[in-house]
Amino acid sequence: MGYEFQRGSMIEIVIAMKRSIVLSLVVFATVCLLSGLSMAQQPVKDQSLPTQKKTLIVYLSRTNNTKAIAEIIHQRVGGTLVALELETPYPSDYRMTVQQVVHENETGYLPPLKTKIEHMEQYDVLFLGFPTWDMQLPPPIKSFLHRYDLKGKTVVPFNTNGGYGPGSSFVTVRTLCPQSTVLEGFSTRGGSERDGQYLAIKDARAEEASKEVESWLRKIGILK
Ligand SMILES: Cc1cc2nc3c(=O)[nH]c(=O)nc-3n(C[C@H](O)[C@H](O)[C@H](O)COP(=O)(O)O)c2cc1C
Repeated sequence: MGYEFQRGSMIEIVIAMKRSIVLSLVVFATVCLLSGLSMAQQPVKDQSLPTQKKTLIVYLSRTNNTKAIAEIIHQRVGGTLVALELETPYPSDYRMTVQQVVHENETGYLPPLKTKIEHMEQYDVLFLGFPTWDMQLPPPIKSFLHRYDLKGKTVVPFNTNGGYGPGSSFVTVRTLCPQSTVLEGFSTRGGSERDGQYLAIKDARAEEASKEVESWLRKIGILK
C-alpha cells in the first residue's frame, strides 16, 4: 500500500515536471518568435552612409587676419583646420612680395604648395580662406584650386582685405570650381601691411568679426 502510494505520487511528480518543461519551451519559443518579429520591423541602418558632412577649412594667411577668421569658423562648425604653406615662402618684405605677386598674376605662375591634403575625397564641405592680394585671388589659392578635384563638393570662400574688398577673388573661385557648389563668400576688413598694420582682427574687433561670421554662417545655411 505504502509502495503503491509512493509510486502514484512519483508518477504525478514526473508528469508535473514534464508539463512545466513543455510550458517553459512554449514560452521560450514564443519570446524568440516575438523578438524576431520586432527586430524584423526595425529599419536597417546603412552603416556605410556618413551621418554628418565632413568639413575642411583651408586658409592662406601672412599676418594672421585670415587665420583669425578661419579659427572663428572652426569654433562654430568644427572640422579639420589647415594652414596653406608654400614650398618657397614669399619674402618677408611687403613691397617685394607685392612685386612678386603682381608678376605671378601676369604670367599665370602657380607657386608649388608644401601643404598636402590627404584624402581630399573624404570632405564634403571646403571652407577656403585668403586675403585680397593685388585685388585678386592670391596665386597660392589658385595653385590649390588647380591641384585638387573639388567636383561635387560645397566650397565656401572667406576673405580679409586691407579695406578695398575681395576684388575679383570670389569670382575666380567660382571659375576655378566649375563642378562645385560655391556658396556666398564672407569678406571683412583685416590689416594693412602697407601701412604697418598687421594683425587687426583681435580683441574687440575679433568679437565683432565673430558675430559677423556667425550671421553669415546662418544666412548661407551652414548654421541653423
Ligand atoms: C602682397 C599683398 C597684396 C595686397 N593687396 C591688397 C589689395 O589689393 N587690396 C586690399 O584691400 N588689401 C591688400 N592687401 C592687404 C591684405 O589683404 C590684408 O592685410 C589682409 O587682412 C591680410 O590677411 P592676412 O593677415 O591673413 O595675411 C595686400 C597684402 C599683401 C601682403
